[in-house]
Amino acid sequence: MVKTMEWQGQSLLLLDQTKLPSEIITILCKDYRRVGEAIKRLEVRGAPAIGAAAAFGMVLGWQELASRYADFSQETLLIEFKKIKNFLLSTRPTAVNLGWAVEKIYKHAVAMINAQQSLKAIETSLGNLACKIYQEDIEVNRRIGIYGAALLPQQARILTHCNAGALATCGWGTALGVVRQAFLDGRLEMVYADETRPLLQGARLTAWELIEDNIPVTLITDNMAAWVMQTQHIDSVIVGADRIAANGDTANKIGTSGVAVLAKYYGIPFYVLGPTSTIDMDCPTGKEIKIEERDPAEVTEKWYARRIAPEGIHVYNPAFDVTPAELITAIITEKGIAYPPFSDTFRGWKECK
Ligand code: MRU
Repeated sequence: MVKTMEWQGQSLLLLDQTKLPSEIITILCKDYRRVGEAIKRLEVRGAPAIGAAAAFGMVLGWQELASRYADFSQETLLIEFKKIKNFLLSTRPTAVNLGWAVEKIYKHAVAMINAQQSLKAIETSLGNLACKIYQEDIEVNRRIGIYGAALLPQQARILTHCNAGALATCGWGTALGVVRQAFLDGRLEMVYADETRPLLQGARLTAWELIEDNIPVTLITDNMAAWVMQTQHIDSVIVGADRIAANGDTANKIGTSGVAVLAKYYGIPFYVLGPTSTIDMDCPTGKEIKIEERDPAEVTEKWYARRIAPEGIHVYNPAFDVTPAELITAIITEKGIAYPPFSDTFRGWKECK
């Protein structure tokens, strides 16, 4: 299974996802600025992977501060560390895992400073915490995979959107974790992968990582989903999540809500897979979720040998959309399966750590 990142103690090695599938190259991030840049450019992408990369970015930030500000007050250190946190937070607004991970690292640093720990001890401890976030994500995904696969019939024929796989996480994947588990259990017949315009995460990433693991996959363009549901005996739609509001409304890659509407029409269960860290209880509904808007060039020229739209065309390029909770059959996390109404189950999960 493909590896998205590797912590090297003083640097973070990232698989450059913008170059896949034609080139397999890595990027060495020696400071937090480069990590932030990689998140912005989608060299590392997918909510859990962004969270883990940002956690390592915070450690790199701390290392830099500790070497530059060794003689400064603890207060100054924390002010500077907060600036690093805010920089990383500003890179992508929709995925909640980013904020979740950087806050975790920041709060840990504050607690250790208050406990009068040395800069070196804090550095070691922050590194360990970031590694724990990374490692736990893989374990969480395996549990999500087991819960999710149990919902699928024998010879399952699945449709998925974007990439919620090993590439989007620290390993195994959420939606594709279910696919991997179903494949191991011998109950997977075919995965249909939406290409996912405009950045083609389905075509470039989902198709690639499934082929790498010899898992049966068929690529379709986004506008084929309705026809495929009608004619190809799709029995489940499974997608990841960038932020799940307290009522179950779910932000995920642009196009997801359209797929959910189609699934409802054709009576196909629509499952959302994600770690509990993706549930944002401070966000009551999908209306409060900030949707990232990206460079118009992603629609008009990126990935194409030549420009495909007229110069000067006005472009709307939201990177995510929100699927209303009423279209979601179940939300599956490492803690189990939530059915509508979702909020009581979410509250129980969040209360028992
Ligand atoms: O813009 P991206 O590629 O970061 O969007 C990724 C998605 O929308 C994924 O489905 C989501 O982050 C879940 S990843 C397990």
